[in-house]
Amino acid sequence: MHNGKKINLGVSILNADYLNLGEEIKKAEDAGADFIHLDVMDGNFVPEITFGQMMVKNIKEHSSIPVQTHLMIQNTDSQIESFIETGSDLIIIHVESCKHIYGCLKKIKDNNLKTGVALNPATPVSSIFNIIEIIDYLLIMTVEPGYGGQEFIGNMVYKIQKAASALEKYNENASRKFFFDIGVDGGINEETIKKAVMAGTNSFAVGTAFYRSQDPAKVLHDLRQASLKAGQFTI
Ligand code: DX5
Ligand code: ZN
Repeated sequence: MHNGKKINLGVSILNADYLNLGEEIKKAEDAGADFIHLDVMDGNFVPEITFGQMMVKNIKEHSSIPVQTHLMIQNTDSQIESFIETGSDLIIIHVESCKHIYGCLKKIKDNNLKTGVALNPATPVSSIFNIIEIIDYLLIMTVEPGYGGQEFIGNMVYKIQKAASALEKYNENASRKFFFDIGVDGGINEETIKKAVMAGTNSFAVGTAFYRSQDPAKVLHDLRQASLKAGQFTI
């Protein structure tokens, strides 16, 4: 049985070859990725620095599939407008680095882009309870943000379950129903994707497993098959 939702597999370019980014993005598109996941890091919220607004805009213009931008930056409030201008289909901001998160999400929505909220491993699901209506996408970090190639934190499956049931409970009492996709970021492979699907998520950013493989199309194909075996969703 599945609940009708489709599995969405995105490719995170964090560990791609930046000197051949055009080809690396094409590789993801050709392999059947559903979206490109861009990790913006400022060397402050997380230790490393990756790239900023100009690069995101460029990639968005170049890409034939939706672009989701994951902001791991300290001053989200003051930089949100310039990221909205990149035209990313979905902008994901961290609750830990945003002082006025409702206001920032509202700005994203007012510009007809999709809103996303990311939670670090230690941040509880309850931090979004009061703003559920404005969220299109909830990103559960299954690693500490900052680096690709880390191990999936097993206990995060309980957090995924909590998020899925919080949404259900909210809707039981709400006169207007709200839905968001639950995404997972970090340490996705054939084993961890099964656990995450069983817990209730249907969207994944895949980085290292994709770019370190000689056959990246097979990686996405195998991940789709693994998620199908875990039930619940369609591919
Ligand atoms: C971590 C990033 C992730 C990461 C995922 O801070 O947000 O998107 O690139 O890559 P892997 O699959 O290597 O964990
Ligand atoms: Zn990410």
